[in-house]
Amino acid sequence: MITKFNHVAIVVPNLDEAAQKYKTVLGAKVSEPFDYLEHGVSVVFVELDNTKIELMHPYGEKSPIKSFLEKNSSGAMHHICMEVKDIFKACGEMKKNGVRILGDGTPKNGAHNKPVIFLHPKDFFGTLIELEQE
Ligand code: CO
Repeated sequence: MITKFNHVAIVVPNLDEAAQKYKTVLGAKVSEPFDYLEHGVSVVFVELDNTKIELMHPYGEKSPIKSFLEKNSSGAMHHICMEVKDIFKACGEMKKNGVRILGDGTPKNGAHNKPVIFLHPKDFFGTLIELEQE
């Protein structure tokens, strides 16, 4: 079912500082920061030839990653994202296999404007997994 690796997302305490460090120390190509009001995150994309890293910071008081940053004040890996051909079929498979989907269990448009679901980390060995329609 999963096809490609899409991105790894890392929550950082300071977006500019993190972007600067990836740029200068690792020589990475980094984007300008984007604010996603509806997702409550600001993101900088670190673009690699074969994948990308998303550096995220809470945006707004109701950000879903606010408490994550409070618990991991120096930053931490937040989730990994893989692509699937059919997100609705993926939902069915998760339900069939007793894997919980976060939220109301239906796909929502993610940061790349494609439908995504997040799988409960307790059902996947401690890793928050995002599945994105390819
Ligand atoms: Co993501």
